Amino acid sequence: MSRLTSYLSAQVRRLVLARAGSGAIDLSQLAKVPDRLAWPLHRDGVDPVTRLGELRAEQPVAKLTSFLGMNVWLVTGDAEARQVLSDTSGYSNDIRPFMGSRGSTTDGDIGGLGFTDPPEHTRLRKLLTPEFTMRRLERLRPRIAEIVERQLDAMEEQGPVVDLVPSFAFPVPFLVICELLGLPDEERDTFRQLGSARFDVSSGGQGVFGAVSDSRRFLMEATRRQRSRPGDGLIGQIIGEYGDDISDFDLGGLADGVFTGGLETSASMLALGTAVLLEHPDEYRRVADDPTVVDRTVEELLRYLGVVQIAFPRFPKRDVELGGHHIARGDVVICHLAGANRDARLSPALDRFDPGRPPLSHLSFGHGFHRCVGAELARMELRAAFPALARRFPDLAVAADRLDYRQQSIVFGVESLPVRLTPAVVPAWGR
Ligand code: HEM
Repeated sequence: MSRLTSYLSAQVRRLVLARAGSGAIDLSQLAKVPDRLAWPLHRDGVDPVTRLGELRAEQPVAKLTSFLGMNVWLVTGDAEARQVLSDTSGYSNDIRPFMGSRGSTTDGDIGGLGFTDPPEHTRLRKLLTPEFTMRRLERLRPRIAEIVERQLDAMEEQGPVVDLVPSFAFPVPFLVICELLGLPDEERDTFRQLGSARFDVSSGGQGVFGAVSDSRRFLMEATRRQRSRPGDGLIGQIIGEYGDDISDFDLGGLADGVFTGGLETSASMLALGTAVLLEHPDEYRRVADDPTVVDRTVEELLRYLGVVQIAFPRFPKRDVELGGHHIARGDVVICHLAGANRDARLSPALDRFDPGRPPLSHLSFGHGFHRCVGAELARMELRAAFPALARRFPDLAVAADRLDYRQQSIVFGVESLPVRLTPAVVPAWGR
């Protein structure tokens, strides 16, 4: 780069930082996320697009584009992504400077752990972790099994062809999160409608960041109600322990992070995981018959699908070196988790679904300080749901010619998965 171009870039970056600081860049007002930024979210069936694998092979850290004067870097290598995700001294998760007035701390919509840095992140995460220890989660195990069986009963009544997304994949994690949070039955319906608009970038920043306000407001209200009548879930437990030391705003934000983090993600895993298993009927039968294969099949589905395609954006706090590149303060770094999960430097043939492969550590739950707090709960749900489904409906089959996978969503998924519960009856004359 010539000295003049470097000088101009530095000026633009200074301007961007100044504008970000003053709230003049507002990602929530973006009408459409441009394709040069969004293409890594596209999929070819359940696979990341070929272009992503080619880029990873050549440049595990690559400059994706410049956007609003910022350089956007895409990290598709496993080691490089781990380096970014574990380095809180080098990178910030705080997106508020880029959110215009929505980013204000007192009444802003951006909350929860994912967009927060230490020491605030450490303080908030500490409130949450006791609710996610294996000991506390054990209390949910029988409830999860009941919820799964009840949804299977409902599917059986509805059959022979049902849509697995609204009948199973979505209600199971939704009801589990309601249990976890301790939300009373009468609040669950309103709550349900707030979940899905969140992660779709096809409507620009509004879909991703704008919908944040509604569910957060709802959960702040639920928190306020529980001050006088604490429930027996996470919200009530935290109120019981910390009382007025935690505000409705903070606790509502934490609960919202749990809701957002846990619903769409687990629902997508259940729907897409079923679709993949049905493409591999031997594996589907095996999870029904052999409890020893369940854990590794679930891990391989998590790795292979990488439903949370990218981590929260990381903002370098100072100039950093990464993968041989100089990344400047004011740039944005996007770690592609689904891409890194298929890094050929880890093991060959990672584009294939193979539960029999030697265990491999994946990035589907992230890495480092922001690693998914609900990972064990998610595993518990998946390890309960797939075997129960395969036992109840051993002949389950996809009842559609093709599936409409989400094309531009941070959480990859499928809107609908029609399945036939029992083999179609072929009339005697048709045999
Ligand atoms: C299969 C299901 C799930 C997947 C694939 C998943 C994936 C992820 C990933 C990749 C991150 C880290 C993002 C980053 O570092 O930028 C994350 C964070 C988080 N997840 Fe999950 N998640 C799942 C289920 C859940 C569940 C069930 C809950 C809670 C009930 C949950 C709550 C959270 C929260 C609160 C965070 C923020 C943690 C922090 O910033 O410290 N997730 N999740």
